[in-house]
Amino acid sequence: METDRSVISFPKANEVPEGAALAVAEHGKWDGLYLVDGEVRRWEGALEDVRSPVCFATADGATEQVIVGRTAKLDETAARAALAAAVGAWDHGRGAWPSSRVADRLAALSKFNERMRGERESVVRLLMWEIGKTRKDAESEFDRTVQYTQDTIEAVKEVDRTSARFQLAEGFIGQIRRSPLGVVLCMGPFNYPLNETYTTLIPALIMGNTIVSKLPRFGALSHMPLLRAMAECFPRGAVNVVNGDGATVVGPMMSSGQIDVLAFIGTSRVANILTRQHPKPNRLRTVTGLEAKNPAVVLPDADLDLAVRECVNGALSFNGQRCTAIKLVFVHRSIADDFVSRLSAAVDALRAGMPWEPGVTLTPLPEPNKCATLAALVDDAVAKGAKVANRGDRSFATFYRPAVVYPVTPSMRLYHEEQFGPIVPVAVYDDEREIDAFMRESNYGQQIALFGRDRDRIAFLVDALVNQVCRININSQCRRGPDSFPFTGRKDSAEGTLSVTDALRQFSIRSVVACQATESNKQLVQDIVASRKSAFLSTDFIL
Ligand code: G3H
Repeated sequence: METDRSVISFPKANEVPEGAALAVAEHGKWDGLYLVDGEVRRWEGALEDVRSPVCFATADGATEQVIVGRTAKLDETAARAALAAAVGAWDHGRGAWPSSRVADRLAALSKFNERMRGERESVVRLLMWEIGKTRKDAESEFDRTVQYTQDTIEAVKEVDRTSARFQLAEGFIGQIRRSPLGVVLCMGPFNYPLNETYTTLIPALIMGNTIVSKLPRFGALSHMPLLRAMAECFPRGAVNVVNGDGATVVGPMMSSGQIDVLAFIGTSRVANILTRQHPKPNRLRTVTGLEAKNPAVVLPDADLDLAVRECVNGALSFNGQRCTAIKLVFVHRSIADDFVSRLSAAVDALRAGMPWEPGVTLTPLPEPNKCATLAALVDDAVAKGAKVANRGDRSFATFYRPAVVYPVTPSMRLYHEEQFGPIVPVAVYDDEREIDAFMRESNYGQQIALFGRDRDRIAFLVDALVNQVCRININSQCRRGPDSFPFTGRKDSAEGTLSVTDALRQFSIRSVVACQATESNKQLVQDIVASRKSAFLSTDFIL
């Protein structure tokens, strides 16, 4: 990797435009905040500096990462207190939140969503500074999350309408409703710190579970403007938001055996550590979104302009830091050189800059030493015969100019490992069966993108691959949305399915109240319903 100052231009502190700056009043405003038992508290113990991927150029020509705030490094006692608050609020399902009527929970969520809308600009700016997400992408992450919450509210109404009906079968009357599971530990990732935390937290909460949310290491500040609204919209202990070192904070929670559901988006390595810590694994439900090595396949008759455009977006949106990113491109030998030269030109044309600059696609990276990690993957491929086909693999400070690496072969790390960053590895294939073989041997099974027009070839690949991945994208990049579509994976890529409606199932279990349909039982049930004494046995529904 070449160090090259020209790959990025970092601003001086006084050059940040007003529309992007974190207000001076906000410096320190969010430091050390966390939410436990209905109170937003400021942690008096150790804090961790939040280093922005954005650097400032100093007067002496040096560059330094901007410190945008400090997060709480809670200790084990504080973590246990958060868990105790959630366990207390659950109270074996008898707590105020789990036993409340669906209408009341929906009202609380609607109120929270309204309050959340009011914090849009604060959250968007924190996303830009903490993780280097462009303004456009940060706004889209925020808006998509608000929409997801709204859609979830509507989906719950639908579930509620269906469950309001009594069922009659084989001489039995039954009422079946989805009921909560208990205490849910939600852990989102740094690349979508808000969206991917809330796409588990919101459905888990709305179904009546109580929550401890451990925030990701990067992106935690972006949650801070929402803590007050959480404290004011939900009963004490229903949602707790903590921060700190995973081993100190999460380890004791998992080994207590009091977590009923682990909702974790991150690596399979960490997911395995966490689930093994639970003393009664049969009592733990896990909902995970993990690594992926989604390939794109460019068939000989593909529309190359389209394939290049989608592969560039698919591989490099948010600098490739998406689980759904295209992480390896297979291109047919007959068009490989042409494709790689077009791809390289398109990658080299991408504009780099600060997250707030219009038209910028490439931005600095939040993970420490990420440039060196990426360069090591490229070095490994180059040592085994590949070349950097574009003007990439050059870095400065926290910025890495994307590398198109070609041809990548099975002996190279880039063929198998998830790079989670701005590298586009390209492999050559001759026969579609090689793609099938790649997926068979891969540890992952999330998605694939196919580019081509030949009906027979696409049909063959769809059937060969559909039982190895969970989404096949034809002539478009891999992606999670629309959020009404199931989002999941096979092997080490996921457990459980997330979509607006699937998530409601993941965070609940069906409970049934049943009796033989005798006259006296019917009268009893009717009396309970008419008296509106039970939240469960009820024909009320929400329109
Ligand atoms: O990192 C994984 C995200 O869920 C990807 O979502 O495809 O909408 O970027 P996306």
